[in-house]
Amino acid sequence: MCGISAYIGHREAYPIVINGLKRLEYRGYDSSGIMMYDGEKMYLTKTKGKVSDLEFITNQEEERKAGNIGMGHTRWATHGVPNDVNSHPHYSQSGELVIVHNGIIENYDTIKKELITRGYTFKSDTDTEVLINLIEEVKKTEGCKLGKAVQLALTNVVGAYAITVFDKAKPNEIVVARLGSPIAIGVGEDNKEFFVASDASPFLEYTKNAIYLEDEEMAIIKLGKEVRVRKIKDDSLVDPIIQELQISLEQIEKGGYDHFMLKEIHEQPKAITDTFRGRMLAEENMIKMGSIEDNLDKFLNADRIIIIACGTSWHAGLVGEYLIEDMARIPVEVEYASEFRYRNPIVTSKDVVIAISQSGETADTLAAIKLAKSKGAFVYGVCNVVGSSIARETHSGAYTHAGPEIGVASTKAFTTQITVLTLIALKLGKANGSLSDDSFKNYIQKMSLIPKQIEKLLEIDEHVKSIAAVYKDATNCLYLGRGFNFPVALEGALKLKEISYIHAEGYPAAEMKHGPIALIDENMPIFVIATNKGHYEKVVSNIQEIKSRAGKIIAIVTEGDTQVRDIADHVIEVPDTEEALTPLLTTIPLQLLSYHIAVMLNKNVDQPRNLAKSVTVE
Ligand code: F6R
Repeated sequence: MCGISAYIGHREAYPIVINGLKRLEYRGYDSSGIMMYDGEKMYLTKTKGKVSDLEFITNQEEERKAGNIGMGHTRWATHGVPNDVNSHPHYSQSGELVIVHNGIIENYDTIKKELITRGYTFKSDTDTEVLINLIEEVKKTEGCKLGKAVQLALTNVVGAYAITVFDKAKPNEIVVARLGSPIAIGVGEDNKEFFVASDASPFLEYTKNAIYLEDEEMAIIKLGKEVRVRKIKDDSLVDPIIQELQISLEQIEKGGYDHFMLKEIHEQPKAITDTFRGRMLAEENMIKMGSIEDNLDKFLNADRIIIIACGTSWHAGLVGEYLIEDMARIPVEVEYASEFRYRNPIVTSKDVVIAISQSGETADTLAAIKLAKSKGAFVYGVCNVVGSSIARETHSGAYTHAGPEIGVASTKAFTTQITVLTLIALKLGKANGSLSDDSFKNYIQKMSLIPKQIEKLLEIDEHVKSIAAVYKDATNCLYLGRGFNFPVALEGALKLKEISYIHAEGYPAAEMKHGPIALIDENMPIFVIATNKGHYEKVVSNIQEIKSRAGKIIAIVTEGDTQVRDIADHVIEVPDTEEALTPLLTTIPLQLLSYHIAVMLNKNVDQPRNLAKSVTVE
């Protein structure tokens, strides 16, 4: 989970590579580096810290920015602490070859020991420096060109990688390869220039034509020539598919907001409308989802549905469990992908697996999918990033169409995942008769109001901000919810933790009396979701229990509520809807609250410490 940005062509490479790295910083931001080649010399600049720190250093010496070939990297450390030496790019021992790498070479230690016996020495602690020296050694011993050396070296490597390699002796080409980490090649007009990046965002303003390498493929990119793609294992040629990019530059910019997270919170009405598009036919009281219709038998005859995901997507999966069991009466289990893949789970061909992932690149989810497939299960993906590894690895699926999510803390991805899961639950419930026609129609009508209701809800921003100001210095917080809103409590706590570094826990409200109640005193803010349906009275009792122990209560209630208002210290109102749909509304104030607290604490909202947007390591 690092970002790669490279350029070869007729333009000045430096601004393209640096701006590309800034767009990729969501992938990792603990150190960064750039290699520039000016036609004679390679200049390497690397530093701990962000791309802006790298820019500060390169700005001191113009020659560090000169040339039409550049390769950059923004890192999320795996092997070796984040420091200048471990930052990428890395030179080979001779100083002729240079590499940037995203991923982990698992057998690097064995290779390193072998290379040491052959006289190689290493400056860094990274697996990447081992790989570039392996490529150099193969090139020397086989007497071959760079492309062949990369191919042969990679056949000896165990692990995951997206790499870009440059050889000073062949300055009109770069070689890229992929296994388990994404890599996109932007193709310029008449093959006069090429861009390489972890996603297409670094080159959107230059070309709309991109080749996405598949796993175990490598490409030799030569100026003036068609890109040549080969299979790494057997060296066979592959016909590359040039795709036309559908994302626009506007979608990946802040558009006047202070942070991507705030922009993405505000984009939710549009994002959900986009999720609905072509699927939710409110006027006809219909849901159209080809991927479900085509596989209806599998879903309806499944022994159970297993949902696998990580982090926020896992929370969406929990909402999915409540929705599918309630509306379609099909048993559902929700699993952390990272546990599922290693715990020898019982999975059969009678199971349907739903894998949820914003990025579509999460290594644990991808591995869990492969495991489920190997046991014969039908795997359905719910992804945001089009063409991502998970979207390709699953048998079928639905995109959330949330648009690019750049803030590391997931917001619109979560609500659009819940939207897709609600559509699936409704569709299955209607198909197997668990939902009456009236109930189905009522849900469709209420569901179609959600984007407008969120739009209205977002107007409470100032009120939420004033509550954030009261609780910003808390060191611990509790989030409580029941039923459909229990996962929302978990998600609210995660949002606060990850961007403001305040410890927070989410609990089913009724579990409080089994332990967490001991934590409550006058310093503990407790965010309680208490909408007027379902378990309302029970949650009110839980609030009373907190109140009698002096805890501070911030309650999310339905518009017009008076009962909780009388007890709580603060209330935030959300519009009325069906209980099963409330997570789409109750989530919004919790996102805003975390956002404002983090801003008030001066934290880096879009790039919280130690995190990265797509977690492509185990
Ligand atoms: C939290 C967050 C993470 C991700 C998790 C899974 O805000 O963003 O917890 O949800 O890393 O990522 P995806 O959905 O890309 O598989």
